[in-house]
Amino acid sequence: MIFCHFADMRWIMLVLALVTAVSCHPPEVQYSWDKIDYNFPNESMRQAYTSRGDFIPANNLPVGVATWKDKMFVTVARWKKGVASNLNVIDMSKTTDKSPQLTPYPSWEANDLHSTEDDAIVSIFRIRVDACDRLWGVDTGIEDILGDTKVVRPPRLIVIDLNTEKILLTYTLKDSDQKAESFFADLAVDADKDSCDDAYAYLSDLGGYGLVVYSLAQNNSWRFHHNYFHFDPLNGDYNVSGINFHWTDGLFGMAVSPKREDGSKTLYFHAFSAIREFSVPTHVLKNESLATAENYNLFKLEGVKGDLTQGTSSAMDLKNGIIYFAQINRHGIACWNINKPLSPETFSLIYQNAETMAFPNDIAVDLSSRKLYVMVSNVPKLMYNELATNGWLEELFPWPLAHARRLPIAHEARKCHSCRAATRCATERFARRQNRHDDGNVTEQFKVRARLNRRYFGRIHLRFGMSFTHYRKSIHKQQDDCDSV
Ligand SMILES: *[C@@H]1O[C@H](CO)[C@@H](O)[C@H](O)[C@H]1NC(C)=O
Ligand SMILES: *[C@@H]1O[C@H](CO)[C@@H](O)[C@H](O)[C@H]1NC(C)=O
Ligand SMILES: *[C@@H]1O[C@H](CO)[C@@H](O)[C@H](O)[C@H]1NC(C)=O
Ligand SMILES: *[C@@H]1O[C@H](CO)[C@@H](O)[C@H](O)[C@H]1NC(C)=O
Ligand SMILES: *[C@@H]1O[C@H](CO)[C@@H](O)[C@H](O)[C@H]1NC(C)=O
Repeated sequence: MIFCHFADMRWIMLVLALVTAVSCHPPEVQYSWDKIDYNFPNESMRQAYTSRGDFIPANNLPVGVATWKDKMFVTVARWKKGVASNLNVIDMSKTTDKSPQLTPYPSWEANDLHSTEDDAIVSIFRIRVDACDRLWGVDTGIEDILGDTKVVRPPRLIVIDLNTEKILLTYTLKDSDQKAESFFADLAVDADKDSCDDAYAYLSDLGGYGLVVYSLAQNNSWRFHHNYFHFDPLNGDYNVSGINFHWTDGLFGMAVSPKREDGSKTLYFHAFSAIREFSVPTHVLKNESLATAENYNLFKLEGVKGDLTQGTSSAMDLKNGIIYFAQINRHGIACWNINKPLSPETFSLIYQNAETMAFPNDIAVDLSSRKLYVMVSNVPKLMYNELATNGWLEELFPWPLAHARRLPIAHEARKCHSCRAATRCATERFARRQNRHDDGNVTEQFKVRARLNRRYFGRIHLRFGMSFTHYRKSIHKQQDDCDSV
């Protein structure tokens, strides 16, 4: 039996060929890490970071991904102490390393919490690149979320010019943009190349169940509330890597549609712990007076995605109106073409693998290279591991090693012509895996209830019970029918 210690866990970043574009190449592992390392300018600086506790490799878990030209941006959220740098870059054209070091972006100073300037980037979760060569992110302002939960400063929107590598804007959210439980982990940017100054950002508040709109032209923000931003109490149950947990995250993933002929656009959105997709015309969000007016019917239910379709981020392919979705309970990637009515039949699972894509954290479409990037990093394991290091559960939970391997995707070329057609095998494989869970070789199963009473996301005291279920499964070597097609 292999016991998995923290350093053994692999976080995998996958690059999938977009099924609509580049035919059907299997998704490749672009980069994978046993543990994250940084490109320190010299050894003495590395030693200084390490001895001060500012760099604890095991606590560095990548969360967000974005790409622009040859650059890949990776955020490492400050879940715990010892994250050397939050916002980082990899030069994809220069590195041949499959586990490259991260280089702080735009600089070490900008990510240094001890910076004398006192304006360091604390902890951005997800970042988005717009049509005007800018990188946008919301700095939550919170360090050591799972530990001492230090609120360094209120949340800020940060915009960086990718050409000059200068911070263009830091905008602190107003008190009226937030609630005590607010937490901003994702955003969508609405910007057109011909009107870069008139851009908007839509910030999803997963903890306060709201949506904050920021207008660059007005340098102002306002907050919408809606019932559709809440989680669904019947769909907050998750199984990831054998860990069973219950999350109440509301509004999370969003995607802005391509511009229609009349100039209009639509924002598609969903709560994390829910299985429906909703939408709202962006002209509604852009109208500050509608934030506080009666607006219920201006928001629309698009449809039901189906069982176990809960997920974090989504990303739009502006070329064809296909949205890609990270799927937490199905451990994969799904898609939906906004030009078709949404139902479980049109919401298609295009890739699934419970081991190698256990927790797809973030997703990005690179329009110029026509590639889909998925950041897979196991947040539940990070949370679980904290319990282990506290000496509670170490012996009870031997985890198998996570694998970083080349992922086969099983469809022949003709199945890949449309988003929908690509899905049959992935869906079948998922169904088989589910059965395996149900009737499979479960020789050991136990549950431990752990009570955590900690400050959660800096603002509120939450008491929650987590139950863990561990399965020891036999290794199924049977050849997947679809793989042999
Ligand atoms: C290491 O790099 C830092 C940051 O660039 C610099 O301030 C320091 O002087 C360097 N130390 C040595 C020994 O080169
Ligand atoms: C935008 O507004 C914020 C807060 O209201 C202010 O601090 C900042 O200076 C403004 N920025 C610009 C570019 O006007
Ligand atoms: C998680 O696993 C448990 C135990 O097998 C099962 O009862 C539950 O339905 C699963 N939940 C989800 C959302 O898959
Ligand atoms: C904003 O909404 C209000 C209330 O419906 C409406 O009167 C106003 O014309 C709208 N403003 C714009 C710019 O569309
Ligand atoms: C489960 O796995 C064990 C060990 O691999 C094996 O001996 C046993 O026959 C399996 N049971 C079932 C029901 O498959």
